[in-house]
Amino acid sequence: MRTVFRPAVIRITHWINAFAMLCMVSSGMGIYNAHPIFDFSFPPAVTLGGWLGGSTIWHFAVMWLLVGNGLLYLLFGVASGYLGRQMFPVRLGELLRDVRLALAFRLRHESGSYNTIQKALYIAVLLLGVLMVTSGLAIWKPVQFSPLTALFGGFDFARVVHFLGMAAILCFTALHLVMVILVPQTLLSMVTGTSSSNHKRRADRDEKA
Ligand code: HEM
Repeated sequence: MRTVFRPAVIRITHWINAFAMLCMVSSGMGIYNAHPIFDFSFPPAVTLGGWLGGSTIWHFAVMWLLVGNGLLYLLFGVASGYLGRQMFPVRLGELLRDVRLALAFRLRHESGSYNTIQKALYIAVLLLGVLMVTSGLAIWKPVQFSPLTALFGGFDFARVVHFLGMAAILCFTALHLVMVILVPQTLLSMVTGTSSSNHKRRADRDEKA
């Protein structure tokens, strides 16, 4: 028997977010290439938009999708209690225990309940999303949002923060995809929302413990 545990809104916003992130990262690389911060550029093949103007149009258009979709995910996740249930609490002791288990290749990773490392990483990537939007605003409209730009230490530093945030999201995504390949049944649950009742029972037991 399979039990639905992941609401449709969470699944749909996750996949829209994955698409939006792909567009934002690749168009962002195109914008970066026009005026690199560091001593390298990205290969044109991985950029979106073809030239600075095209990349900028993609970046600013998809930005609205990313922000609207992110707000919907957060509002629904908080109001329905889903985020509180699946991602909290994150206790330091449990995190250290799960890191030890992961290093010994004994950490449970299954659909239906998140281990503490997953919880911490998902919370971190959601916070990174907030950092990307705020640092993006700071460099998009540095005059209108001057207090925000100042909070980031000025335009140049906000640009570096925006770049490093993107790099951190790419690292998360690489790890995330490795885990999906290692535990492919989680992919099915992110599409259908279902998980085997066995996993659900284990999740319920963990919740009570
Ligand atoms: C930058 C892009 C991505 C971000 C920021 C992201 C973020 C997240 C977050 C926060 C969750 C927890 C969702 C929740 O329960 O509310 C999640 C779960 C999941 N994501 Fe992603 N994701 C991204 C891309 C992808 C891609 C490309 C795939 C697969 C091809 C994928 C597959 C999954 C799966 C299968 C789960 C469920 C994991 C489980 O139940 O153990 N994600 N993702």
